[in-house]
Amino acid sequence: MKEQLELMNKYIANLAVLNIKLHNLHWNVSGENFEQGHVFLERLYTDLFEKYDEAAERVKMLRQFPEASMKSYLALTSVEELGNKFYTVPESFAVAQQEYEGLIALAKQVRKQADQNDDFITVSLMEDHITIYEKELWFIHSALK
Ligand SMILES: [Fe+2]
Repeated sequence: MKEQLELMNKYIANLAVLNIKLHNLHWNVSGENFEQGHVFLERLYTDLFEKYDEAAERVKMLRQFPEASMKSYLALTSVEELGNKFYTVPESFAVAQQEYEGLIALAKQVRKQADQNDDFITVSLMEDHITIYEKELWFIHSALK
């Protein structure tokens, strides 16, 4: 369970930091197709915020403590934050693409570890999350074509 908990807390930390990072892009995206990019990025962080809560509540169901401070998130996360500047729509989507690929890789690790622990509820949760990430990646890919 220790390894699974560590992975789940890293996942929670990444979702928390990505919430801020995607807000940065939502605010600072500019230029051609601004509104489309602005609205799409809002959809991403709104969904990730829900997934952040779901992952943390799953940890509570496992009778453990999810990490719950910005300090711990910054210590655990593999997400690198961005500076405040303008981003074009393709630039911001390329960042989102990379982050979503990272989320999928980490959620797969959580899923694998949960499967080894016969924790099929976490397995199912990660499968649901990955399904949405794959769908958003398709949108991003299509927009970047
Ligand atoms: Fe907004």
